[in-house]
Amino acid sequence: MGVTWGPGFHAAPGQPVDSSAYDQYIGRWSRLFVPALLTAAKISEGDRVLDVATGTGVAAQMALRQVGNTGLVVGVDISPAMLQMACSRLSSRQFLPVVSDAQTLVFPNASFDAVLCQLGLMFLSDPARGLAEFRRVLRTNRHAAVCVISSPDRAPMWGILAEALGRHLPDQRRELQRSFSLADVAQLEALLVAAGFREVRVTRETRESTVESFDEYWAPIETGPGQMPQAYRALPESGRRAVRKEVQACMSQFELNGRLTMSVEMLIGVGRA
Ligand SMILES: C[S@@+](CC[C@H](N)C(=O)[O-])C[C@H]1O[C@@H](n2cnc3c(N)ncnc32)[C@H](O)[C@@H]1O
Repeated sequence: MGVTWGPGFHAAPGQPVDSSAYDQYIGRWSRLFVPALLTAAKISEGDRVLDVATGTGVAAQMALRQVGNTGLVVGVDISPAMLQMACSRLSSRQFLPVVSDAQTLVFPNASFDAVLCQLGLMFLSDPARGLAEFRRVLRTNRHAAVCVISSPDRAPMWGILAEALGRHLPDQRRELQRSFSLADVAQLEALLVAAGFREVRVTRETRESTVESFDEYWAPIETGPGQMPQAYRALPESGRRAVRKEVQACMSQFELNGRLTMSVEMLIGVGRA
């Protein structure tokens, strides 16, 4: 059985993005790492910042606060539906949405003071090409910072689901592991160096959060955007029931009094142009 992915894998083709479901499924975890990403990118007031794969604007929202009234945040995404949601969520005149593939950015050389890419790089078909573009549009001596998800066992809120879906959709297994494809520190360092960045550093960061119940964890998978939820919904009902059961059994290791407390590891990579 196949899934027809929309551009960028996250928004289902022809459907609007439910931003609160996105937030429950990814945004709430992504947000925990954005302060570290912004610190790595050394963003200051008045900066012109590019947020690549901005999605619903999780990183752009925090960047807007840092650049203040004199700065600008340009949010790029390949998915018009994701960008539309970013615009309605952020509603700031200093947020400029641009539909573009991260691997062929539509901006002149050296046009930004910082480039961010929060949970986007691993979805590019050619991450090296994307990083070379980040380097090209960045002013000399300024920083690009990327954040990618670690391995499935260190990101259980997605890792357990990806494993279960892969058992039921073996022909989609590789695509379903895409979220974890840049989980290696040395690999990410080498990619940044090859793109021409100097003073490259990759660190592992861990954060923890609690979801009130398994049902709350599961709700956005039934209805919301995201690569794995779309794959799940393409299964026949018996397959969906089986996946839910397998994931719930595995998630019980994180359960205390009905609540799920999970930690998640991500890699933050930074380089100077
Ligand atoms: C997991 S979301 C991350 C969104 C946001 N940065 C966050 O942290 O919540 C990944 C985003 O990458 C975008 N994306 C995937 N491939 C892309 C590409 N080639 N160029 C630009 N954006 C892309 C998707 O449309 C999606 O919005």
